[in-house]
Amino acid sequence: MHYAEITGWGKCIPPARITNDDIATVVDTSDEWISSRTGIKARHISHVSTAELATVAAQRALDCAGVDAEQLDLVLVATCTPSTMVANTASEVQQRLGAKGAATCDSNAACSGFLYALQMATAQIQAGMIKTAVVVAAERMLWYVNWALRDSAVLFGDGAGAVVLQASEQPLGLLASKSGCDSSDRSILHISNFGTNVNKYQTIGGSDLNFVGPEIFKRAVKGMSVACDDVLSQAQLSLDDIDVLVPHQANLRIIQSIQQRLKVDDDKVMVNIDEYGNTSAATIAIALCEAVERGMVKPGANIMSAAFGAGLTWAASYIKW
Ligand code: ACO
Repeated sequence: MHYAEITGWGKCIPPARITNDDIATVVDTSDEWISSRTGIKARHISHVSTAELATVAAQRALDCAGVDAEQLDLVLVATCTPSTMVANTASEVQQRLGAKGAATCDSNAACSGFLYALQMATAQIQAGMIKTAVVVAAERMLWYVNWALRDSAVLFGDGAGAVVLQASEQPLGLLASKSGCDSSDRSILHISNFGTNVNKYQTIGGSDLNFVGPEIFKRAVKGMSVACDDVLSQAQLSLDDIDVLVPHQANLRIIQSIQQRLKVDDDKVMVNIDEYGNTSAATIAIALCEAVERGMVKPGANIMSAAFGAGLTWAASYIKW
């Protein structure tokens, strides 16, 4: 049995930063409304493509691992904001990295995308099909945002995070995982005016991000908490064994509710939504990277991560660092 050890990590945060007060100059909102309901104080906006954000994060992860791009067998990009639909974003990342010959694939599970992609790449390594992969989550959520819709405009941000996975005999990396989707409720979170369902002769104005916030809130708390419990029992662990919880960053109150349900101490929970907002698939990849930078994640640490997003997709993973 091979394992897929995480040997490198990196992130790319666009330098341009938008505070809540900045948003309040163009949208009828306030710092008080946004921060008290979501915990968000700022977000970063990208002026470069999703593929460029992804490439910077991936290159940093490769440098961290000491892996040359030509060693990569797979470039997997989790995104719901691809640079182009055809060819895939991962092929541009492959070209920019110089990862000649590596397989390339984009995967879209919205906010659960990074954990889904981590599961897929890990499974290929565990099966002995490949030896080295980079899993990148990259998003330009602010490209979707319709600034006329204040309920969604304040929530999102841009950014990317990446990890390098390498085949190992050591029991490290993703060791237990569960994912799923409650599609019967997919209408409570969707963008209706992009994709082949849209008449191609229709003029598309801004994106039409439809969501029912309070419903998503409840389902996200329950979905991520239950998924964590399932993965803990799969791994035959208890919460006391977990050193760090890295949840999807959609709303600080969602994170706090999960923390209360699971009874996890404050100092074990990675939170950075205040600075980045919701970067969809990228939140966990960026948060994982920052948890290492902050010294919360040390070699051998037991990490639990959970995500919830459009679909309604969900996932939880136990990672041995
Ligand atoms: N600024 C000021 N007022 C606003 C804003 C805004 N940006 N947006 C909405 N409002 C108003 C509404 O018009 C409404 O006014 P009304 O009561 O006069 O009709 C009122 O604020 C709604 O306020 P609350 O009910 O207090 O809002 P709530 O507590 O439900 O918070 C929020 C809304 C933050 C969206 C919350 O539901 C949430 O976080 N949901 C889950 C996160 C989510 O849906 N994320 C989308 C991505 S999915 C994911 O990542 C899991």
